[in-house]
This record gives sequence, C-alpha cells and structure tokens, in this order.
Amino acid sequence: MPATVIIGGQWGDEGKGRVVDFFARSCSVIARYSAGSNAGHTIVNELGKFGLHLVPAGIFHADTTCIIGNGVVVNPQTLIEEIEMLSSRGVDTSRVRLSDRAHVVMPWHLAIDKLDEQLRGERAIGTTGTGTGPAFTDKAARLGIRTIDIVKPEALEEKLSFILPYKNRVITELYGGEPFDYDEVRADYLEYGRQLRPYVTDTAALVQDAQDRGEQILLEGAQGTLLDLDSGTYPYVTSSLPTSMAAGACLGVGVGPTAIDRVVGVYKAYQTRVGDGPFPTELFDDDARLLRDHGVDQGTGEYGTTTGRPRRCGWFDGVLAGYTARLNGVTSVALTRLDVLAQFERVKVCVGYELDGKRLESLPPALLEASAVRPVYEELPGWQQDVSHIRRLVDLPPEARRFVRRIEELIGVQVDMISVGPEREQAIVTRDIFGVPL
Ligand code: IMP
Repeated sequence: MPATVIIGGQWGDEGKGRVVDFFARSCSVIARYSAGSNAGHTIVNELGKFGLHLVPAGIFHADTTCIIGNGVVVNPQTLIEEIEMLSSRGVDTSRVRLSDRAHVVMPWHLAIDKLDEQLRGERAIGTTGTGTGPAFTDKAARLGIRTIDIVKPEALEEKLSFILPYKNRVITELYGGEPFDYDEVRADYLEYGRQLRPYVTDTAALVQDAQDRGEQILLEGAQGTLLDLDSGTYPYVTSSLPTSMAAGACLGVGVGPTAIDRVVGVYKAYQTRVGDGPFPTELFDDDARLLRDHGVDQGTGEYGTTTGRPRRCGWFDGVLAGYTARLNGVTSVALTRLDVLAQFERVKVCVGYELDGKRLESLPPALLEASAVRPVYEELPGWQQDVSHIRRLVDLPPEARRFVRRIEELIGVQVDMISVGPEREQAIVTRDIFGVPL
C-alpha cells in the first residue's frame, strides 16, 4: 500500500499535527521524516492539549507505530522528557521507534545556534534556538553523532574524542564562547543513550516491512515549504536535510519515491510566520491582533509552540499557496482554522503582486524580492458567525463556502478537509483522504 505524505504549504504552524492526529486512525505507521525539536505540533483531543516536538502526532492512536525517521535530528533530553510527559498523561509510548541513523543534537549545537545568531547581528534568521540548524550543518559536515553512537559507550567515546575538541576550538576561538567538558558530555549522553536504547532501531526496515504487508503509512512533515532550504524564502529558512517538502519524505524515512501516492497539503485559512524574512501579506494593524489572539485564552492563539514567540499574521496568500502546491505535487488540501476568520466583516485573499508598478500573477523570480512586492487583494464577504460546531460542508454559511471555493481555485487542488476548531472532531471532511467514500 503506498504512503501518504502530510506537508505544510506555508511557513509552518499550519496545523499539520491536528491533521495527522485526525487521519492517524486509518494508518498503522506514522513517521516523522524531517526537522528536529524546532518543530512544534499542537494537538487537542480527549486527553487534553499536547505540544509535541519530536514524537509523531499519531501517538494518540493505540494501534500505530510512531517512528522518528533518519531525517530528523533529535535532542535526546527533549525526547526523553516528551516520552515521560506522554506516559504520565496516560499515552502508551512503547510504540515509539527512533531511527538508529538519526543525528543527535549535542550541547554545542544549542550554544552555536545562539552564538551564530548574535554574530549575524542584523542578518539573524530568528531561529528557534533549539540547535537544529547546527545539528544539520554537522550532519552535512560529517561531524555528527547518531543515536546508534550514544547507545554504545565505545562508539560515543570514540566520536567525542575527536568532535568535542574540534567544536571547543570553534566555540572558543571563533565565537569567544565557553568550552564543553568531555566527562560531563560523555556522562550525560551515555545516560540519554541508556534511556533511549529500547526505542532505537532500523526504522527504515520497519516502514518497508509495513509497506510489504500492505499497511497504510503516513509520513508527517514538519515546518512548511516556504521554510525549505531549496524552495523557501532563503536565507530565512530552516536547515533540515532532507527538505520540508514531500520529496524529502522518502529520504527522511528510507523509502523510494514510488512509495508515495498521496500528498496532503495543509494550509491555514490565513498566513503566519515566526522568525524573520519576507511576508508579503503581513498585517500590522488590529486585524493582525484579531488573527493572533483568537483562542488565546484556550492556549490556541498564534504563539509559537516551541518558543512562545508571537507569530506574524496576515491574509491568505494564494500566489504562494499555488507555488507550494505545485512544488509538492499536492493531491489533497486540508484547510485549517476556518473558524478564526469568522470575526471579520470582509476577508481578503492575495491573488497577485505588484512590483515596480507591474502586476505579477506568479512569484517574483527571486523569492527574497517578495519583501518588495505589494499584494493585490480580492475581498470576499465574511460570514460573521460561529462555525466551530459545523461538520458538513453544506451547513457552512454560503460566504464561508465561497471562501473555501476561492482557496481551492488559487491552490489548484480540491479541499478535502476543513478544520473549524482545535479539537480532533471539529472538522469537516468532504472527501476521505484515504480514498474511502464518505
Ligand atoms: P531553525 O529551524 O530553528 O533554524 O529556525 C529557522 C527559521 O525557521 C526561523 O524563522 C524559525 O522561526 C522557523 N521555524 C523553525 N521551525 C519552525 C516550526 O516548526 N514552525 C514555524 N517556524 C519554524
């Protein structure tokens, strides 16, 4: 049975976690394939509200194997804490599997993440400070330590004996930072290795075996396509290898491209971004505040799950959405947070740009120029009524249906699921993503 990939079509925080949580019941294997604990997925279900960073959002379904693939970089302390938190709240975590080839975030990655942002000054990226970028840098520089190394004392000692002095030189001589102590790092990581040993395995083989048995597999992306190293708003992007896009899913879990037959693009009904970088439809007025603070009392406002930073907010950008749908080969759209727009008398969507007095229907050649473009908006009537209880498309107010249809036209792909609230069941499914007719 081929696999389904779930990707973010914007700058992350589109609600992928809740979409994965919703569809996980149809799957036996859910695998995270990229990023690290910079990612934050918020899930609200019958057990309460959860913020996950590394464990796949499928963990709340009893029959799923939840894999952290080789494409993820793992902060072992964060993972241990997350597993403990889930267990203490009654979630069975014995189904978590961690790739033996996943790279590990080391203390110098956290230090370098901060020191490097300082060194960049005005050109800082606004990273999450989780060490994710430097861990991916070291992976590519062949200076990484993998989970297979921390579960074997000799392997860890052998790697540390070369890498730690190397990193200490970089930290002290380039950044003027404090060096790390070999014995402390060794002791901490051996302990992490001891605790994580039961989970570490060849996860690529697990995914391939599940495929051979004809089981449904869900590959869970992190971040969004516009944060992708190749196709995003470089250099204001994240550093995951493989990419934050559907094509990266194969590399990040260890399956071939023929394994993928469905790509679900998750898009929020408006646009948000954390960190620096271009954002053509960004709002700075009261409308931004309304978008950001909707649901803030319930902890579902637009504030980062990982860093708590307020997210920059703006209207839906149809040009960027069409761009990311084509890049990922999106076959199905999940549109999230439609309920948030109920507060507006009129709702705007960006349908083009203006640059130097000229109208553009597609993206400027260099994405960075996006900071110079002026969005061209289309205004649609708002629906100004609560839709959070609605479960069928026909029951949505006509103005909301019109908005959804316009989003479909702009993305160029059918909307199969609409979320109207943070709880698992607050969703309208118009076509089952797994092909089962409703
Ligand atoms: P890094 O991934 O921590 O290096 O941060 C690079 C950029 O990606 C920054 O603008 C971050 O705010 C952004 N970023 C990283 N992870 C996420 C995420 O899960 N959601 C939204 N933005 C993210």
